[in-house]
Amino acid sequence: MDILPTRLRRHRFLRDPSVPTITLIQHSGESYTVEAADGATVMEVAIDNNIDGIIGECGGCCSCATCHCYIDPAFIGKIPPRGDLETEMLEFASSEAKENSRLACQVEITEELEGMVVILPETQL
Ligand code: FES
Repeated sequence: MDILPTRLRRHRFLRDPSVPTITLIQHSGESYTVEAADGATVMEVAIDNNIDGIIGECGGCCSCATCHCYIDPAFIGKIPPRGDLETEMLEFASSEAKENSRLACQVEITEELEGMVVILPETQL
């Protein structure tokens, strides 16, 4: 017997298994697991799914830092390291920056990121 609600069972069977899913968790604790197309950025995935907590004011040009997020430490090694501009933006624009902070517009989805958890900071709600 399948214990998943009908809505989730349907999603599991209809979803393309080659498309990775990631989970975004807002500061309030609301959690959203969404499909994330290979090549899209975490910022684009959040915006496309209307998830509050990622603003993306500059459209992904790495010039606003309104897409600050925290990446699950288990996945940090699976994404390219921050560039100099991203590091500067995080240092100057966010007082909440931590070791696992990233700008979501600079994190591109790959198959390796299946199951990645992204935490959204309080300041962008
Ligand atoms: Fe502006 Fe990421 S969307 S820095």
